Amino acid sequence: MISRKKLIAGNWKMNKTSADALTLVADLVASVGRQTDVDVVVCPPFTSIETVGKAIEGSMLKLGAQNMHPEASGAYTGEVSAPMLRALFATHVILGHSERRALFGETDAFVNKKVLTALKNQLKPILCVGESLGERELGLTLKIVQTQLEAGLDGVSKDLASSVVIAYEPVWAIGTGKVATTEQAQEVHAFIRSLLTKLFTEPVAQKVRILYGGSMKPANAPELLAQKDIDGGLIGGAALEARSFVELVTAAAAAK
Ligand code: 13P
Repeated sequence: MISRKKLIAGNWKMNKTSADALTLVADLVASVGRQTDVDVVVCPPFTSIETVGKAIEGSMLKLGAQNMHPEASGAYTGEVSAPMLRALFATHVILGHSERRALFGETDAFVNKKVLTALKNQLKPILCVGESLGERELGLTLKIVQTQLEAGLDGVSKDLASSVVIAYEPVWAIGTGKVATTEQAQEVHAFIRSLLTKLFTEPVAQKVRILYGGSMKPANAPELLAQKDIDGGLIGGAALEARSFVELVTAAAAAK
């Protein structure tokens, strides 16, 4: 079986001025900038992307954005495109986060356009999927995840599929302190991998990293990261302080 390198990504959401972002990223570069056991991605707000990008130059840290518009340029006030992100040396982009879906009306079809655009521009999409509390209570978790995954990856070629990162983020666990149990998370991760096998091939499915997101913290990370199909984390709150984020990277490096 392929061993997948763990990936820890920090989603800073709408936090940090560029001065604060620089302080945080300088701490991260000093603490984990040289380690090679885990892929580490930081995703600051657009206003700090360039500053953070310069600060991580020469380190092992990678740069991601939190969103992107599918068109390359044009009359899309307030939006940012894939070529703009590439010009700042971003390598990853979070797409279809549940906050974008719920608060900004993003549909599966729109998210899919972004996924295809990101891949065309050599950006690795971190495609987020996950059910709400109501959906879980109705027993719809796997169905929701399947719909979001299949629609989000529609038209992605087998060759490019292994560049995609999937993040399973149960909406009820985001920012609530309620983490999914390891069994709940592993069940959905294994399901996602089985879907990837169906959509692409077994070798592709074995290569794709599937991250868990939702109140992941140093205290609960080791157990989650020890699960067979949990290949890392997409971290919100705990990514805003160097100490907790570094502990998560350390936990991922220790996880087998
Ligand atoms: P929290 O870690 O704050 O729950 O956020 C998770 C998340 O939404 C990451 O994208």
